[in-house]
Amino acid sequence: MSGSKITDIRAREIIDSKGIPMVEVDVLTSDGSLGRGSSPCGVSVGSHEAVVLRDGDERYQGLGVQKAIRNVRDIILPALRGVDVSRQRAIDSIMIELDGTPDKSRLGANAVYSVSIAVARAAASSMGIPLYRHLRDAETYTMPVPIFNMVNGGVYGDRRIDFQEFLLLPTGADSYPEALRMGVEIFGRLEPIIVKHYGRRRLQIGKGAGWAAPVDDPARIFEILLEAASMAGYHDKVKVGLDCAASHFYDRAGDCYRVLEDCVNREELIERLAGLAEAYPVCLIEDPLHEDDFEGHAWLTDRLPILIAGDDLFVTNLERLKKGIALKAANAIVIKPNMVGTISEALQTATYAETHNYRIIPGGRSGGCVDDPVPDLAVAAGARLVKFGAPRSGERTNKYNRLLQIQDELGKSAVFSAFTGLTVRGKKG
Ligand code: PGA
Ligand code: ZN
Repeated sequence: MSGSKITDIRAREIIDSKGIPMVEVDVLTSDGSLGRGSSPCGVSVGSHEAVVLRDGDERYQGLGVQKAIRNVRDIILPALRGVDVSRQRAIDSIMIELDGTPDKSRLGANAVYSVSIAVARAAASSMGIPLYRHLRDAETYTMPVPIFNMVNGGVYGDRRIDFQEFLLLPTGADSYPEALRMGVEIFGRLEPIIVKHYGRRRLQIGKGAGWAAPVDDPARIFEILLEAASMAGYHDKVKVGLDCAASHFYDRAGDCYRVLEDCVNREELIERLAGLAEAYPVCLIEDPLHEDDFEGHAWLTDRLPILIAGDDLFVTNLERLKKGIALKAANAIVIKPNMVGTISEALQTATYAETHNYRIIPGGRSGGCVDDPVPDLAVAAGARLVKFGAPRSGERTNKYNRLLQIQDELGKSAVFSAFTGLTVRGKKG
């Protein structure tokens, strides 16, 4: 315990990397420390995520966050004033109780999450230690393999292709800095390759900051990624992956997936995904089916010896993860702390996943913020993978760079998590 008490909490409305309002909070303590936190939001939002409270009035086309800010000032501050800032779990529990809803819709997950982060940062600052160490004190820490979102489709591209993210993993790297360098060098080769094959008109930046998919055939995109990897000299050192974000092209009324002109059922979508996974070095598929189809996810997990990750499926929520584990729906989970609304709940979900042989993949949001705590959380949670988007644009490079700072600070006590193949502990192989 730091012994330092919360004396004030200030909240303001700022804008995120997409120019959309978000909550920013300062927590001040009795020893003069300050911690700051903000609440990012996604484009590809799962319907089971904790609720981002927005004003719905004429300001910012309804997207203002003044109500959430009032909730910080009028409801959260009076309850937290005088509490020891290092008691993160107790503080998060107080806010969960004050809110009283399962999805934080009363106070707003944007209000609660910003305070949760600001409290963690204020405590770390008061104790003079880095955030990852405050979240978990350990002798050694693991540095993760980054998953790069190179080519964007779905709600991120111009909808030329339905799958949302075409991912690249530098699985053959020997260290985090080398993995980052490989990702950046390969990303740099994509521009001339897209121009060579499809002309400059098809070279557009997607909403995930990767290149918008220039064609509608996922196989061609994997070929482009592998061509870029070869050109950079890393052909045998990378694998590819997909974030389908399938809820976004699922037609509930017709119970089918709108893939280009077709409407395919889940069996057929699973066949298509299996075909791609068998033809290319695919090691990860995220959200292959819509967010409520636990059974379909389980079929695919059983069928393919690769990582099947739930993002919208689990929304970092422990109850949904438990259901997934019981139904054998996946073997990996994307951890986005703002999806659940407090840092304690995100860490609890991550720990539960780890102990049940699920890989954890901490990730940022596309409506991101700088100084995102997710890199620190990833290191604290012992994540062997992280997913921060394309290696360009401020708030994304800021997260990749934060891991470089942590690596530098840890020196020899940082262990690199070499990608251990396509297998998950306790699963196939
Ligand atoms: P986001 O999603 O746009 O909601 O941040 C990214 C993802 O689906 O992984
Ligand atoms: Zn996703």
